[in-house]
Amino acid sequence: MGYKVVVAGATGNVGREMLNILAEREFPVDEIVALASRKSLGTEVSFGDKTLKTKDLDAFDFTGWDIALFAVGSEATKIYAPKAAASGCVVIDNSSLYRYDPKVPLIVPEVNADAIYEYKNKNIIANPNCSTAQMVVALKPLHDRARIKRVVVSTYQSVSGAGKAGIDELWDQTKGMYVPGQEVAPKKFTKQIAFNVIPHIDVFLDDGSTKEEWKMVAETKKILDKSIKVTATCVRVPVFVGHSEAINIEFEEFLDWQEAQGILRESPGVLVIDKREPGGYITPVECVGDYATYISRIRQDSTVENGLNIWCVSDNLRKGAALNAVQIAEVLGNRCLKKG
Ligand SMILES: NC(=O)c1ccc[n+]([C@@H]2O[C@H](COP(=O)([O-])OP(=O)(O)OC[C@H]3O[C@@H](n4cnc5c(N)ncnc54)[C@H](OP(=O)(O)O)[C@@H]3O)[C@@H](O)[C@H]2O)c1
Repeated sequence: MGYKVVVAGATGNVGREMLNILAEREFPVDEIVALASRKSLGTEVSFGDKTLKTKDLDAFDFTGWDIALFAVGSEATKIYAPKAAASGCVVIDNSSLYRYDPKVPLIVPEVNADAIYEYKNKNIIANPNCSTAQMVVALKPLHDRARIKRVVVSTYQSVSGAGKAGIDELWDQTKGMYVPGQEVAPKKFTKQIAFNVIPHIDVFLDDGSTKEEWKMVAETKKILDKSIKVTATCVRVPVFVGHSEAINIEFEEFLDWQEAQGILRESPGVLVIDKREPGGYITPVECVGDYATYISRIRQDSTVENGLNIWCVSDNLRKGAALNAVQIAEVLGNRCLKKG
């Protein structure tokens, strides 16, 4: 006895991970369907040891399906998520379309699982931006202990955060650098990404920040605490998978770095790797395929009152997207939906 589950965007980076994680975590599935655009009709995707043939999202009838995990981008979500929700299927959406809608819960289960009941407002639940998800997992237990006043974060975001096209561009451009006549011009990214870093993700806003930076501010407030001030600089780096963040935190109360280390070691979803020696910290290539949000380099910031610095790394396709969505589905199943 389980659920009838839809994965929309099953041929994409996040959709494929959703199928992997549903199988790995043995999510109770009675029936599962993989959807993508018409051009991918019949494309084979893996679900555990099974192979699914992708169907056309546009022609799909959601009636009788329980949960739809969406990873198709905002434009397609705008068309198909309301259709699914109106058919009685609960949508867990990875795009940014519904994240800031006050009627739609925005959930990271380690932080605000109790918001799940608000799904009833629209039959839609939003999954946060990849950079926010891992950051709030790290901040929540520290906030509970010493109340966070302000966060200054710089991100080092992998190209898989920009979809399949982002991965292809880094791969092709890197190879092209070594083959005369096969140079690849920037297309998905605004400048060369191979052997470079780009301080620009998503569109520019009037105040000079980017939408990605604004998302980290707005989403941290919605998920964790609206009183926390956040300022972010989001940077694309030539890493395939795994986002890293240098996070500076100012608390209301003093929090010793050793106590912070102890708190983080006990926190759900967190793994601390923090030996103050060469190699005693985590890097993005080491977190690929894992569920954890890794924390390293925990240290006092003596330039402000009650300051702490941490280094935070996670697989953006997992905790930053697919894993978080499946965890939301687990909470929804355990607390709200009947099986079978
Ligand atoms: N990558 C990340 O780290 C990350 C993190 C958090 C959230 N997200 C969000 O997750 C979503 C998917 O991202 P991704 O990285 O998986 O992108 P992706 O690799 O480019 O995959 C996009 C998927 O959406 C499908 N799709 C696009 N337009 C469609 C349409 N009109 N009708 C049906 N299917 C359509 C594509 O199908 P075809 O293959 O048939 O085109 C593909 O399966 C985006 O909203 C993204 O912002 C991504």
